Amino acid sequence: MLQANDQAWLQEVIDKLKTKMEWVSDKSKHKIPYTTVNGTFDDRAVDNPSGTEADGINWWTNGFWGGMMWLMHHETGNAKYKEIAAISEEKLDRCFEQFYGLHHDVGFMWLPTSVANYRVTGNPQSRKRALHAASLLAGRFNLAGGFIRAWNDLDEGDTRGWAIIDCMLNIPLLYWASQETGDPRYKQIAIKHADTAMDAFVRPDGSVHHIVEFDPEHGGVVRTYGGQGYEEGSSWTRGQTWGLYGFMMSYIRTQKDEYLQTAKRIAHYFIANMPEDGVIPVDFRQPAEPRLEDDTAGAIAACGLIEIAKVVGEHERRLYIDAAVKLLKAIDKRSDWTEASDAIVQYGTGAYHASTHHHAIIYGDYYFMEAIFKLKGNDLYLW
Ligand code: GLY
Repeated sequence: MLQANDQAWLQEVIDKLKTKMEWVSDKSKHKIPYTTVNGTFDDRAVDNPSGTEADGINWWTNGFWGGMMWLMHHETGNAKYKEIAAISEEKLDRCFEQFYGLHHDVGFMWLPTSVANYRVTGNPQSRKRALHAASLLAGRFNLAGGFIRAWNDLDEGDTRGWAIIDCMLNIPLLYWASQETGDPRYKQIAIKHADTAMDAFVRPDGSVHHIVEFDPEHGGVVRTYGGQGYEEGSSWTRGQTWGLYGFMMSYIRTQKDEYLQTAKRIAHYFIANMPEDGVIPVDFRQPAEPRLEDDTAGAIAACGLIEIAKVVGEHERRLYIDAAVKLLKAIDKRSDWTEASDAIVQYGTGAYHASTHHHAIIYGDYYFMEAIFKLKGNDLYLW
C-alpha cells in the first residue's frame, strides 16, 4: 500500500511505539488512563467522589488502555501486554454492579477488552462480559424511532430521544453478539440504528451532525445539536470521523453497499476540508482564531480511510492512503516519544467549548497505534 519512503517512516514509527509502550505499560499496568497530569497518566478506575455516575470506572474511554495492550500483544507476542489488558478488563466488572453509570458506550468499553480477550484466548469469562454489555446496548433501542439511545439523563435534561454519531462505533458489539450466539436480534438492532443514522445524521454534503433528537414516543427527528462541536449545524471533526470509520465498520460486518458509500461520502467531505498541513481543527466550521486542534480526529480518520482503501479498486486506493499517511505523519511530528510524558499523542481536544484543549487523551494513542498497525497490514481488528 505504501511508497518506499513512507515504508521507512512507518518502520521508524513502529520502532518508536514499541520502545515507548515497553516502559509506559510497566509504569501504568495497574491504571486505566484517560489523560496525563504533569506527564504522568491519571487513573480512571478510581472513583471520584464528586464525579457523576458516568465518571470513574464507568468512564466511556476505559476500554482503550486494554485495547492498546491487545494491539501491542498482537504486534510483539509479549505476554505481559495480555496480562496488563486482563487487569483493566477485570476492573470493569464494577460497572455491571453499579449499572446506572453505563450508557451506549459499552461498545467502546468492552470491544477492545473482553471481545478482544475472547477472540485471542477464548476466555469464557470474557465472552460472558461482552454478551452482558451487548445485551445492555440492545436494551437501549427505541423501537418507534429506530435508534439506540445515547446517554442517560444528563444536565441537558430529557435525553430519551437523543442519539449521537459516536454510537456507530458501539454497534459492532451487537454484530459480534449475533455472530457469537447465532441470535439475529442484536444484529437487527445494529442495522436498524445504522439505517436511521444514514438518514438522520448524514447531511447532503457528506458531513454529519453530532446529536440528533428523535421523538421517543413516535419517532421522527425533532432537532439536531452541535454537541461537542462549535455550534448547531457546524462540523465537529471527531464526529465526522466516528461517522467515517463507524459506517465502514457496519460495512465490514454486513457487506451492505450503502454503508460503504456513506463512509466514502463522509471521507470525501473530510479530505476536502483537511488543512494542507494535515493538522485537524476541532470543528471544520470553527472561526479561524483561536486555532483549536484535535489530533485524535486525525488518528480515527486515518483508521477509517485505510479500511476504505482495503476494499476499493486500485485507481481509488491512493486517495485514501495518501490522506491517511498525511494525517499520521502530522500526528507523529507533534507526538511525544520521550519519557517526559506517558502519552504519545499530545494535541487531543474533548470538545470545542471545553475548558482545556490540546492535551493527551487515551483514544488518541489507541487510534494512532491502530492506524499504524493497519498500514503495516498487521492490526488486530477489534471492532
Ligand atoms: N464519544 C465522545 C467523544 O468522542 O468525545
